[in-house]
Amino acid sequence: MTDTETLPRTGAGAPKRLFIKTYGCQMNVYDSERMADVLRPLGYAPTETVEDADFVILNTCHIREKAAEKVYSELGKLRILKEEKSGAMTIAVAGCVAQAEGEEIMRRQPAVDLVVGPQAYHQLPELLTRTARARGERIGADFAPVDKFDALPKARGIQGVTAFLTVQEGCDKFCTFCVVPYTRGAEWSRPVAAILDEARSLADQGVREITLLGQNVNAYDGAGPDGTPSSLARLAWALADIPGLDRIRYTTSHPNDMGEDLIAAHGELDALMPYLHLPVQSGSDRILRLMNRKHGRAKYLDLVERLRTVRPDLALSGDFIVGFPGETEADFEATMELVREVRYASAFSFMYSPRPGTPAATMGAQVPAEVSRERLHRLQALLLEQQVVFNASQAGRVLPVLFEKAGRHDAQAIGRSPYLQSVHVEDARDLIGQIVEVEITAGQQNSLKGRLIPRSEQAA
Ligand code: SAH
Ligand code: SF4
Ligand code: F3S
Repeated sequence: MTDTETLPRTGAGAPKRLFIKTYGCQMNVYDSERMADVLRPLGYAPTETVEDADFVILNTCHIREKAAEKVYSELGKLRILKEEKSGAMTIAVAGCVAQAEGEEIMRRQPAVDLVVGPQAYHQLPELLTRTARARGERIGADFAPVDKFDALPKARGIQGVTAFLTVQEGCDKFCTFCVVPYTRGAEWSRPVAAILDEARSLADQGVREITLLGQNVNAYDGAGPDGTPSSLARLAWALADIPGLDRIRYTTSHPNDMGEDLIAAHGELDALMPYLHLPVQSGSDRILRLMNRKHGRAKYLDLVERLRTVRPDLALSGDFIVGFPGETEADFEATMELVREVRYASAFSFMYSPRPGTPAATMGAQVPAEVSRERLHRLQALLLEQQVVFNASQAGRVLPVLFEKAGRHDAQAIGRSPYLQSVHVEDARDLIGQIVEVEITAGQQNSLKGRLIPRSEQAA
């Protein structure tokens, strides 16, 4: 039985309104959905307008300084709103900033009623009743994802045909720049059976594509039916057997955890989409060593080659950090060279942001901001050029597109290609929820345009 089931339901009257603002990675998106699931039995229904909300949750990210600072400015605005509503609004801070600096949040912003870490949000109902009596509870310093997943309601209020599913939490890698091992705790994998149950119920609700989530999702080693650890590849094969689940993706992967069976699956398992987010951070061996990435440039390039041998059309994406302490122009050029060699379909790149408590923050030779900014511009220009080339190369192809939602034009629908690009198609609104062959007519910077193939042109 979950905590929520033991609590009194709300009486008659209007439903209470819940507003959740999500920052950071997909794991936070999943957690925000689950927070709404936990609060639904208490009578909370989601609202899109913060002014209407009885309960506001900021689900925060601590990865870079800017992300963390945004929380305090947002809280400043919420304080004013709360005053205007004569205090009739509960404010919670969840997520990685809550975990990392919960006490500071409470101290800096008295309007905050409660702070809850990423492994403790299943306790929200209980926390809410307690804060109704007295402010100031900070929950979550301990890491126990197992308790969380056991306590979460089985039912997910999922809408749409794609869904995230967290299978792994935490990180043991301790890259010297990164806060995640401190905010999310040690690596832990959910058991196979629990994941299959959740995936089956998603498929029953009409979900056709799931993205398996974890900070190091390919380090997945959850207990299988016989109690022995299962790899992510084995999990993917089992998921592919679920009727209705046609597409499987996973993110984020670490190059060192790319097992042979997972590489092979990219060539053999049709449901596994030909897109892989595989961050490398830098192309310089010297910087990779300082980052404690535990692999070099050659190993990464070799991995990419092996993946492309089994799946030649695999679209690759990555994360890059520029201006890591001690990065020279030659180190940066090594990153540019690696990017030219790999040819990414899309990528994320960031200026290094020193994070309190991480080893890199106190390393010497911090790179001046102007130098990092200029390097970031050069890297982003190259990555954008590659993205444009990749998108343009799809023109003329016929691709299976999973239609997800209505577009802006009348009867237009937006779907996803196997390579994760958005595809805009006219007169396709009736096809939402279906996977349909689409002729790609143009590849643009951020999306593709396609057309349905008239019956008269279809091969018999
Ligand atoms: N677990 C994933 C990524 C987690 S964080 C992995 O290992 O790849 C997402 C991305 O944020 C990282 O890949 C990195 O590129 C970036 N990042 C993390 N810490 C950062 C920092 N201190 N400054 C700038 N970017 C950072
Ligand atoms: Fe952070 Fe490195 Fe772990 Fe990724 S692998 S979450 S970058 S410490
Ligand atoms: Fe941010 Fe936490 Fe995700 S720090 S990137 S929300 S794991």
